[in-house]
Amino acid sequence: MKHLIDPLDLTVEEIKELLDVANQIEADPQRYAHACEGKKLATLFYEPSTRTRLSFEAAMLNLGGKVLGFSSADSSSAAKGESIADTIRVVSCYADICAMRHPKEGAPLVASRFSKIPVINAGDGGHQHPTQTLTDLLTIRSLKGRLSDLTIGLCGDLKFGRTVHSLIKSLARYQGIRFVLISPNELRIPDYIREEVLRSQHIPFEEVESLESVMPQLDILYMTRVQRERFFNEEDYVRLKDSYILDMEKMANAKPDMAILHPLPRVNEIAVEVDNDPRAAYFKQAQYGVYVRMALILKLLEVEVC
Ligand code: NCD
Repeated sequence: MKHLIDPLDLTVEEIKELLDVANQIEADPQRYAHACEGKKLATLFYEPSTRTRLSFEAAMLNLGGKVLGFSSADSSSAAKGESIADTIRVVSCYADICAMRHPKEGAPLVASRFSKIPVINAGDGGHQHPTQTLTDLLTIRSLKGRLSDLTIGLCGDLKFGRTVHSLIKSLARYQGIRFVLISPNELRIPDYIREEVLRSQHIPFEEVESLESVMPQLDILYMTRVQRERFFNEEDYVRLKDSYILDMEKMANAKPDMAILHPLPRVNEIAVEVDNDPRAAYFKQAQYGVYVRMALILKLLEVEVC
C-alpha cells in the first residue's frame, strides 16, 4: 500500500502524472465528480489548519466521496492519552484513506506503519509538508510552464517552515534549479537540508539576509510566516516576526514576471497592497491545492477515471 509521508515518496515521473491529472481536473471537474462515490476520507488534525484540512475535505467531496474527522487534539482521544498507533488502527476501520497533521515530527510515519489505509502527511511539526509541495509544484508549473531552470527565493522562517523543507527537497530533483535562501541568521535552513539535500547533490544556493539585494534575480519568491508556535520563547518571536515585509516598494526591483507564492496563512510578511499585483499568486495557489489533492486521493485509492 502507498502512503505519502515524505515528498520523495513520489518519483519525478509520478509527480508529473499527478500534476497532469490535477490540470485535467481543473479543465473538466465534472468528469471526476463521482470518482470516489462510496469512499471516505478521515482528516486527523492534531494541529490548527484552515487550507490543508478544508482543501482535503473539498477534494474528497468534489470526487463524490464523504469525509469524517477531527480538527484539534483536544476533541480526539489523544486528550485521553491514546497512542497514534491505536488511533490509526481504529480509523482504518472507519475510512478508506486519511490525512494526518501532527505537531510531532514523524507522527504520520508512525501511523503509516500501523495503518490498513493510505496515510497522507498533512504536516508533521517543523519537518515536512508534502501535499503543500505538490500544490507549490502545480502552481509553479502552471505559471511558468516548467519546473526546471528557475531561480527560487525562499524568504522568512526557513528553520521551522516545513513547507520550505519539502519544497527544497522536491525541487532539487529538477535541472537548473538555483536557490536563494533569505532569512535572519537564527532562522536559516536546518543543517540536514543544507548538507544532505543541497551540498551533497551540488545544487547551487546562497544564503543571504537581505531580500532587497537579491530581488532582481528571482523567478519565484516563496514567502513564509515566522512559525510562532515552534518558538521556545515569545521574546525571540517578537524580535524576529517582522524581519521581512514584502511591499510594493520592494516589488519595484522584481522581474516583471516573478511569481509570489506563500503557503498561507499570512500574518504581515506580505503587505495587503501586493495582493492586487498580477505577480501575486498565493490565492490561486490555494485553489491549485484542491486539484492536486483530488489527484492524490485518486492515485492512492487506485481509482481509474475513464
Ligand atoms: C503551512 C503549514 O501548516 O505548514 N500552512 C499550510 O498548510 N498551507 C504554512 C504555515 O502554517 O505557515
